[in-house]
Order: sequence, then structure tokens, then C-alpha cells
Amino acid sequence: MFRYFSLLLAFGCVIHPSHGTEVMVKDKDDKLCLYANLMVNFSVSYEAADNKSNTVQFELPANVMSDGSKCEETNSMLKLDFGAGHSWSVKFTINGNVYQADSITFSYNLSDSTIFPKSASNETVSVIVRPHITDVSMDTCYSCNSKETIQAESVNQTLWNVLIQAFISNGTQSKNLTTCAADLPTPTPTAPDTTTVAPVTNVTTSAPPSTTTPTPTLPTPSTGNYSIKPDENSTACLLANFGLRIGVKQGEKYQEINLDPNRTSVSGSCGGNSSELVLVSSAMTISFAFTNDTKKFRLQGVNVTAKLSSGTVFSEGNSSLSLWEASVGSSYMCNKEQNYTITGQLNVFTFDLQVQPFEVKKGLFSTAEECFLDSDLSFLVPIAVGVALSFLIVLVLISYLIGRRKSRTGYQSV
Ligand SMILES: *[C@@H]1O[C@H](CO)[C@@H](O)[C@H](O)[C@H]1NC(C)=O
Ligand SMILES: *[C@@H]1O[C@H](CO)[C@@H](O)[C@H](O)[C@H]1NC(C)=O
Ligand SMILES: *[C@@H]1O[C@H](CO)[C@@H](O)[C@H](O)[C@H]1NC(C)=O
Ligand SMILES: *[C@@H]1O[C@H](CO)[C@@H](O)[C@H](O)[C@H]1NC(C)=O
Ligand SMILES: *[C@@H]1O[C@H](CO)[C@@H](O)[C@H](O)[C@H]1NC(C)=O
Ligand SMILES: *[C@@H]1O[C@H](CO)[C@@H](O)[C@H](O)[C@H]1NC(C)=O
Ligand SMILES: *[C@@H]1O[C@H](CO)[C@@H](O)[C@H](O)[C@H]1NC(C)=O
Ligand SMILES: *[C@@H]1O[C@H](CO)[C@@H](O)[C@H](O)[C@H]1NC(C)=O
Ligand SMILES: *[C@@H]1O[C@H](CO)[C@@H](O)[C@H](O)[C@H]1NC(C)=O
Ligand SMILES: *[C@@H]1O[C@H](CO)[C@@H](O)[C@H](O)[C@H]1NC(C)=O
Ligand SMILES: *[C@@H]1O[C@H](CO)[C@@H](O)[C@H](O)[C@H]1NC(C)=O
Ligand SMILES: *[C@@H]1O[C@H](CO)[C@@H](O)[C@H](O)[C@H]1NC(C)=O
Repeated sequence: MFRYFSLLLAFGCVIHPSHGTEVMVKDKDDKLCLYANLMVNFSVSYEAADNKSNTVQFELPANVMSDGSKCEETNSMLKLDFGAGHSWSVKFTINGNVYQADSITFSYNLSDSTIFPKSASNETVSVIVRPHITDVSMDTCYSCNSKETIQAESVNQTLWNVLIQAFISNGTQSKNLTTCAADLPTPTPTAPDTTTVAPVTNVTTSAPPSTTTPTPTLPTPSTGNYSIKPDENSTACLLANFGLRIGVKQGEKYQEINLDPNRTSVSGSCGGNSSELVLVSSAMTISFAFTNDTKKFRLQGVNVTAKLSSGTVFSEGNSSLSLWEASVGSSYMCNKEQNYTITGQLNVFTFDLQVQPFEVKKGLFSTAEECFLDSDLSFLVPIAVGVALSFLIVLVLISYLIGRRKSRTGYQSV
């Protein structure tokens, strides 16, 4: 769905029209191993001393320190330090014959009053997001001139004019590019997130309104594995695996949209009594609020903002739900497709769901409490088999008894 094309271009990584931040990282043998030339804009909201929320915008400066970067065999890190204790870093890993950017960590020092005037806090805050830099062929340079905005709690990062090559071999940059989908000249027929719409027909006096037009069915959404870490070096504190689809009703129109996990950025937070998971893709933003009370957790709130095919923005939410309930310290699981009515206009469908918003140990799911449908069926199957078997035994016994009687009477009559 999210395809890249390798093109053989005369210039490739070497010459680039932008004048962004350019960095060359060398390995221990003093050979070039990572190259980046890119532009990043940050939009950060923070709390000011007068209890107001301030939002500031600034750019990644051209002057950065890249000493913290490092290249290793299968993973490498681009770390750009700038200003008074701010940093922006990207982790790359190799996955077969492609490489990808696993995460971007942006740390900003709120005591820097030139950027964050009157900040109430003096702390350094880190946000971790997942960019859409995936499936870059080895020995090619990733190129994306289009803007990509990655949203996280209180920080938006916009990347553009990006040219990056990780895992450079032999110290020479590649002339071949892997171009991002957004840059390709012809828009791909498949939208980033699969969407179906009832065909729009103009209502005229001769044609009846098309309220009964059947909507084509979407493929089952792929299962995404989402996790939240309290900080860079810790294991996950919230885990959620699921395939997700939303169903949106606007007037007479009903539309379903799948969430594509490959193009979704994850953010959120974990706490003792509440945790939050926020998933952002180009077609929707969906947030889940979990609460922990009296040793049970549940999904209490869901908010969805989606761009509909009509171009309108849809926004609905409900903060008084009681879904996905299980004991704190265990996880909630439901493999069957589920249809949850969030509001009159919004339904959420889940597939292969497993979620644990509290007390995650060692980054792994704890024992699961299964949803009614799963456990109901798994209970029913052996019971049904047992009932059928005993019925069969009784049937065989009866026919045996009848047969014996008949044959006995038969013998006697002879
Ligand atoms: C997402 O990426 C994985 C591997 O990177 C791939 O197997 C899968 O087909 C992709 N899914 C979609 C919907 O593009
Ligand atoms: C700021 O808000 C907090 C609670 O949110 C309140 O206790 C405090 O008095 C407020 N301070 C000012 C200066 O308004
Ligand atoms: C980036 O930020 C600068 C200054 O804040 C602004 O002039 C520029 O338009 C921004 N660019 C984008 C693509 O948002
Ligand atoms: C954060 O900024 C303040 C003020 O500029 C500075 O004194 C402090 O050293 C910075 N913190 C870090 C971790 O660099
Ligand atoms: C940060 O602020 C707290 C109180 O708000 C203060 O106690 C602490 O000394 C400050 N730290 C620094 C490094 O300025
Ligand atoms: C990030 O972008 C979203 C959508 O454009 C906007 O609602 C939000 O206020 C932005 N946040 C920041 C911190 O700029
Ligand atoms: C670029 O790709 C072509 C075909 O994919 C390959 O033959 C060529 O060696 C590559 N060039 C570089 C510099 O990697
Ligand atoms: C609906 O009518 C408008 C204006 O009359 C026209 O531009 C449009 O192409 C029509 N759409 C369809 C699906 O017939
Ligand atoms: C994470 O660990 C690395 C080294 O293992 C250390 O340099 C870094 O400061 C740690 N970061 C945090 C946020 O603790
Ligand atoms: C959940 O809430 C209970 C009290 O309501 C508290 O004792 C427990 O520590 C909380 N769980 C977590 C993971 O903080
Ligand atoms: C949904 O939006 C409401 C109102 O803006 C907010 O109070 C609530 O915390 C949000 N819930 C989630 C899960 O984001
Ligand atoms: C989901 O549930 C709602 C309300 O129960 C129902 O109207 C709708 O048809 C269901 N959708 C699917 C796809 O099963």
C-alpha cells in the first residue's frame, strides 16, 4: 500500500536542492556511514507561568552537533544536538534487505527561555514518535520532498526535503533513491487508508435517493502493534495490538475507514489511574482513555477525528464507556471482530484485539482475560462436542438393546 520506487538518478544523495540541516556521520574507521539533509519544523505547546498554554514554532537549525550519532552493523542513530540542551534523534534498523527509521526522539529543554518564554516548567521533555520512513532499500537514499507531519502529545513535527541514507557501505553515498509515495508524480489509486464510500449520485426528480446503495466491503484491517514507553530506556508501560476500523454516519451516508498501522504514529501516556493511547494516521486521529479503579481497568473514553471522503472533518467522542474490562495486571483479549457503538454517528470495529494499559511487566502482555464472545465459544465447543457424543452413545446403546431384544424374540419364535 505504501510503496516506494527505486529510481536510478544521476545525482541521488549527492546533490539536493534544499538548504536544510546537513550532517555526515563517520564510523570508527573515519568512513562516511550515515548522511542526512533535511528540514524539520517543530510546534510545541507548553504551560506558561501564568497558567496559559503557549504554542511556539521553531526550525531545526542548520547548525547542529552530531557527535552523539553512531553507526553499528544493524542499527544506527542520528542524534542532532542543538541550542540549549535540545536534541532530535532518529533510530534506524536493518530488516532484511531494507532499512527503516524505527523512532524519532525529540527532547526539548523548557528552561531555554529564548524558545520557551515564561515556561512554568524547567524540565527537559522527550517525545517519541514513529515516522513513516520504512522499506528503504539497502544502499539507497531515502528521499521525500513532501511534508510529513507527525503529531504527538503537545508536539507536532513537520519533516520535508528529507534525504537520508543510513548504513552507507564503503563510505560512498548511493546514487540510487527510494522515493516516498507522497512524492510520486501520479497519485496512487489506493488512498493511504482504505476507504469506501457509497457512490455519490445527484438526486434528481427522476432518480430516487440512493439511501439503499450497498457499500462495498473493506478488507480486514491489518493488526497494528502499538506500545507506549514512559521514557527512552524503559520497557513499554502500555501495549495494544489490534486491527481497527471506524464506521461513520453523516446524515444518510455511511462510510467505513480502516486504520493502516504502517502509516500510523503512536503517542500517549501511562499513569497509575489513567492511561492514554493516541493513534494518528493521515485519515484519522483516534484516542483511547483507560482508567483503573478498584483493581479493574476499562476503556472509558474514545475520541475520533476523521477526514471523510466528502472533505468534511468528522469529530465524535464518548467519555463514559465501559469496554475492555479486565483486572489490573492482566490484559484484555478479543480475537473475534467486535462492533462497538461509541455514539449514534460512530462505531468502532476491532479485530484480534489485545490490550494492557496498566502494570505491563518486561514489555510483555500478562495473562489475558478473554471477551465474552471468545470465551463463550471456547466453552461452547467442548460442551457441544460432549453433548453430541453422549447423544450418540445413548443412541448406540438404545439401538443395541432394541436389536438384542428383537434377535432374542426372533430366536424364541423359531
Ligand atoms: C505493513 O508492513 C509490513 C512489513 O513491513 C507488510 O508485511 C504489510 O503488508 C504492510 N501492510 C500494509 C497494509 O501495507
Ligand atoms: C493555576 O492553576 C492551578 C490549578 O490548575 C491553580 O491551583 C493555581 O492557583 C493557578 N495559578 C494562577 C496563577 O492562576
Ligand atoms: C517552518 O517554520 C518557519 C518559521 O517558523 C516558517 O517560516 C515556515 O513556513 C515553516 N515551514 C513549514 C513547512 O511549516
Ligand atoms: C537547559 O537550558 C538552561 C538555560 O538555557 C541551561 O542552563 C541548562 O543547562 C539546559 N539543560 C541542559 C540539559 O542542557
Ligand atoms: C527547576 O524548578 C524547581 C522548582 O520549580 C526548582 O526546585 C529546581 O531547582 C529547578 N531546577 C533547575 C535546574 O533550575
Ligand atoms: C498539531 O496539529 C494539530 C492538527 O493540525 C493541531 O490541532 C494541534 O493544535 C497541533 N499541536 C501543536 C502543539 O501545534
Ligand atoms: C542502482 O541500482 C541499479 C539497479 O537497481 C544497480 O545496478 C546499481 O548498481 C545501483 N547503483 C548504486 C550506486 O547503488
Ligand atoms: C452532480 O451535479 C453537479 C452539478 O450539477 C455535477 O458537477 C456533478 O458532476 C454531478 N455528479 C454526479 C455524480 O453526477
Ligand atoms: C538511556 O541510556 C543511555 C545509555 O544506555 C544514556 O546515555 C541515556 O542518557 C539514557 N536516557 C535516558 C532518558 O535515561
Ligand atoms: C489502580 O488503582 C488502585 C486503587 O484504585 C491502586 O491501588 C493501584 O495501584 C492502581 N494500579 C496501578 C497500576 O497504579
Ligand atoms: C475526548 O475529548 C473530551 C473533550 O474534548 C476530553 O475531555 C476527553 O479527555 C477526550 N478523551 C480522549 C480519550 O482523548
Ligand atoms: C454495528 O452495530 C450497529 C448497532 O448495533 C448496527 O447498526 C450495525 O449494522 C453494526 N455494523 C456491522 C458492520 O455489523
